[in-house]
Amino acid sequence: MAKQKTTVGIINNETLAYTAGRDVELDHALITVDCIGTAAHVTMLSKMPVQPKLITEDERKRVIEGLVEIIGQAQRNKFKIQLADQDVHLAVERTLTKKLGDLGKKIHTCRSRNDQVAVDLRLYAKEQLLQTLDEAAALAAALVSFGRKNKMVPMVGRTHMQPGMPSSVGLWATAHAESLLDDCVGLINAYELNDQCPLGSAASYGVPLPIDRQLTSDLLGFGRPTHNVLYANNGRGKMENLVLSAMSQVMLTLSRLSQDLMIFTMPEFDYFQLPAEFCTGSSIMPQKQNPDVCELMRAKASRVKAAELGVYDLIKGSPTGYNRDLQEAKELFMEGIATTRASLRIMTPMIQGTKANKKKLIAGFTPDVFATDRALELVGEGMPFRDAYHYIKENLHELENIDPTEAILLKTHMGAPLGLDWEYFKGRIAAVKETVREERKAFNRAVSKLLGVKYPLK
Ligand code: ARG
Repeated sequence: MAKQKTTVGIINNETLAYTAGRDVELDHALITVDCIGTAAHVTMLSKMPVQPKLITEDERKRVIEGLVEIIGQAQRNKFKIQLADQDVHLAVERTLTKKLGDLGKKIHTCRSRNDQVAVDLRLYAKEQLLQTLDEAAALAAALVSFGRKNKMVPMVGRTHMQPGMPSSVGLWATAHAESLLDDCVGLINAYELNDQCPLGSAASYGVPLPIDRQLTSDLLGFGRPTHNVLYANNGRGKMENLVLSAMSQVMLTLSRLSQDLMIFTMPEFDYFQLPAEFCTGSSIMPQKQNPDVCELMRAKASRVKAAELGVYDLIKGSPTGYNRDLQEAKELFMEGIATTRASLRIMTPMIQGTKANKKKLIAGFTPDVFATDRALELVGEGMPFRDAYHYIKENLHELENIDPTEAILLKTHMGAPLGLDWEYFKGRIAAVKETVREERKAFNRAVSKLLGVKYPLK
């Protein structure tokens, strides 16, 4: 059987395809972060208090120049990882060795692909989490402005799916916004736990040389290095699982929002109308406008959860130290994040284009919807609640002729402590955006300093 010479030995093609085939494709998403990680590692090596120097200052500069070149190629989709490389790490080493000769062979001193991929995935997760937060904040803002625009539009509040109490489109929309803002807290928690640098843990057990893990961590703009080197490797998979679980909360919100939209756009309700460009037709039934985006979002929520559980399942029986099984988490991780982000991105313009049909929303009110409000009105006049409850139950006819627009919005809604404070939502959305801005600025500053060129590259 045909074999190939790789940087780390001769491997037959079947083995290469089986062990690295898919990974080589996925690793294209890690080229930039891999180069940034290497720049930090090499910089740290150049500062080590050993003689002779592992890497001289001049060598450091040359390696970094080579890395910046690769980052530029990656941005233009021009850097290709080959199967014989097995992964991005050895592809970068091969390229640098071709360019710099023996110097390229020094970059892997005191490091393993195991801590290298761990740092790559953490840097990747950082960026992805910030993007997700940005996109979630945009959707939360769209929901709040939809709610605000329609705050005076009455909507039957349902429990058990049955008509319950008078409510409003404003309350409905911002309920989903608040859910999403809570999901942002989960994403930020995941971000903070992820914000630890595993580089320097090497294969799993560290190296017997005085490397400076704090320095590497600082150079990369991480909050701190992971403490125990073995845990730095055991923590792989656990980190992906945590991030996916935060993503899956986002998808839970999106799935329930989708479900609501599907119900309330049914012709029987016709409360809302989705923008036509977010619906699809039928090949046989000419009249159809199907809410496929919502249906798929509901289904994709299951897939993101499956990705989370998939990673969990991969690692739950994983013995301590690096195991190659971890590689299989990469696809689930990347796909789960990409699906969540795509869902956020499509839901935002969909909400922005959704119309509330005030007439139908008002027509949805049957007199009994006012029963609780009326009972509480009687309480205000001095009747014990249970008596008022029974009185209304027996005299539902008294509730006829209540105008929903007048009744709810002025009485129940405006004065009642329902949580429809626009300033509250504005503040929470702004706080998420501020976190993203600050974190991104700090990271770009650290990487620009490390590479000696403005990052992100033009
Ligand atoms: N592609 C590998 C992964 O994702 C990189 C680390 C490989 N390490 C090894 N010792 N074979 O885990």
